[in-house]
Amino acid sequence: MRVEENKPLAPYTTFGIGGPARWFATATSEDEVVEAVDWARQRGVPLFVLGGGSNLLVSDAGFDGFVVHVALRGVSVADGGIYQVAAGEMWDEFVERTVRAGDAGLECLAGIPGTVGGTPVQNVGAYGQEVATTIVAVRAFDLQAYEFVELSNAECGFSYRKSRFNTVDRGRFIVTRVDYQLKAGGAPSIHYSDLKKVFAEGSEPSLDEVAAAVRKIRQSKGMLLVDGDADCRSAGSFFKNPVISDEHYARIAATSAAQPPKFSAEPGKVKIPAAWLIEQAGFAKGYALGNAGISSKHTLALINRDKATAAEILALKERISAAVREKYSIELEMEPVKLGF
Ligand code: EPU
Repeated sequence: MRVEENKPLAPYTTFGIGGPARWFATATSEDEVVEAVDWARQRGVPLFVLGGGSNLLVSDAGFDGFVVHVALRGVSVADGGIYQVAAGEMWDEFVERTVRAGDAGLECLAGIPGTVGGTPVQNVGAYGQEVATTIVAVRAFDLQAYEFVELSNAECGFSYRKSRFNTVDRGRFIVTRVDYQLKAGGAPSIHYSDLKKVFAEGSEPSLDEVAAAVRKIRQSKGMLLVDGDADCRSAGSFFKNPVISDEHYARIAATSAAQPPKFSAEPGKVKIPAAWLIEQAGFAKGYALGNAGISSKHTLALINRDKATAAEILALKERISAAVREKYSIELEMEPVKLGF
């Protein structure tokens, strides 16, 4: 493991924003993960685990600590359709492999940037699927117990965009491998409205066709990384979709011209699209504030229009949050992880 100093972090993020890491190293094996942990402990410096950088906003001053870039590679298929995947594998390449093999369960999660290790952390989900449904185990280094552990699905504490890894046990584990149980020869999942529109009722598309459709939809929303397209210099959805009570939803509906969109949530609650709230609060696609902006393809993605600073992104975030708070009494929650603030 080679430790570099003052390593620029912006190139490691899809936002392309942020200052340097005081120290930086790449771990390509579990031994190197432990080496990195020891290095940080011996010097008493904070440790940050970097995966694909697709859900990350780094501060302009950077991070005064040690960044370990998890780059473990390797995929093996165990008996019964369980894929054991090293944390540093590119997520979309892995999805592509499972789709080609005819194994169902991840086809709607095609085209998502980032690495495998990040998927259990925020329980990545899109188009009606989330990884909590297929993950059977997560192997990780437990910094508290100072040993590798294998957590079952139940032990991961998954909910909407959440797990124990980004809530109660934030910073405690370094994910090194994720095991997914897929369904050999299974049918694709076509539940999300955007997908239902593509495939006629009763048609039986292949996993491949569904994954291709998802990529196409993501591209139309600027949620597929395309080189040179400013609309994808983002961290994907910048806000979570708020979960509000049925009564709160009814109050919003009563003052709206048309029925507000909603997704189902736990009993007594609905999930309301943040993109809709933001537009109703007066922000259109393509809105700009300095070098920060809203994607011209999707209101939920804040973008780095050109050389934006993290401060500019946060200024835009504040402006949007204040307007939504004022109009709807809803506190928007940021989805990407913040580093160095
Ligand atoms: N909408 C707008 N304006 C827009 C886009 C959407 O008003 O520009 C409204 C529409 O009413 C639309 C509704 O928002 O029907 C929902 O939009 P969409 O289907 O695009 O989904 P989303 O809520 O914006 C969520 C996830 C995405 C995921 C898609 C598809 C969150 C925070 N975001 O977005 O996940 O890809 O559904 O399943 O849950 C991510 O988390 O980074 C991410 C991209």
